Amino acid sequence: MTKVSYRESHKYEGKGAEYEAYYQNKTWQRFLWSREKQIIMKILEKYFAGKEVNLLDFACGTGRITELLENHVKTSTGVDVSSPMLAIAKGKLKRTELIEVDITAENILKPRKFNLITAFRFFLNAEPELRSAAIKALAELLDEDGYLVFNNHQNSGSPWIRLRFEHYRKKNPEGIYNVMGIKQMTKLVEGAGLQIIEIYPVGFFHPPKLPVSFHLNCTIDWATSKFKFLNRFSESPIAVCHRKRDSDNSKAGK
Ligand SMILES: C[S@@+](CC[C@H](N)C(=O)[O-])C[C@H]1O[C@@H](n2cnc3c(N)ncnc32)[C@H](O)[C@@H]1O
Repeated sequence: MTKVSYRESHKYEGKGAEYEAYYQNKTWQRFLWSREKQIIMKILEKYFAGKEVNLLDFACGTGRITELLENHVKTSTGVDVSSPMLAIAKGKLKRTELIEVDITAENILKPRKFNLITAFRFFLNAEPELRSAAIKALAELLDEDGYLVFNNHQNSGSPWIRLRFEHYRKKNPEGIYNVMGIKQMTKLVEGAGLQIIEIYPVGFFHPPKLPVSFHLNCTIDWATSKFKFLNRFSESPIAVCHRKRDSDNSKAGK
């Protein structure tokens, strides 16, 4: 049996509403989303203070990230291949241009440039061919001084993800349970001439079958985020990338 490409995975009727409910009903997802919001706004302040922002939200889905950002940017564009996901986004977004297109097949956005490109909950699930086609298409659209911000929502460095992964593999030796480590994230962006310049940790304490309260999770994440070296153990790290520059090589002593 051939596995359906990730490109097709969100196209069935009702998928948009299902995705929205996932974020509303699950404590852990609501917690992750609250952390992601804080971090995205921090990134905006740190890298874009006083600048006009032209946003591209790649694989924007129902517009979760786009909605957070659209009132903080000059122009806002969202692309996705799924019409049920985009239908929900259309209902929410006020000043975003939404385009149903697969830029990995035909990059119709060229020669436009964006100085902020976001891609959330995409790379982990995409198969290797799609991951590399997407990062290359995005690198072509990234302004010289722009930033790509993406997450990896199942970091293999997280002890809980590792546990889940081992458990799944025991039960389904032939099944697919995607995990991605910081090394793979680095390799992915470097393949498109980009470089990770900062990683923000998200989600530390997610033991299987043990409900942890929203507030306890906020406290644990706040405390652990003080120690940068703990990044690699977080469940859903967010990476900020820019174009690889010659000065980066010389700084790294290469
Ligand atoms: C898990 S959803 C994430 C939506 C949104 N970024 C978020 O974080 O809430 C993944 C999205 O990737 C989209 N997708 C899959 N392949 C794509 C492609 N080649 N180009 C654009 N979007 C794609 C799917 O249609 C789906 O809406």
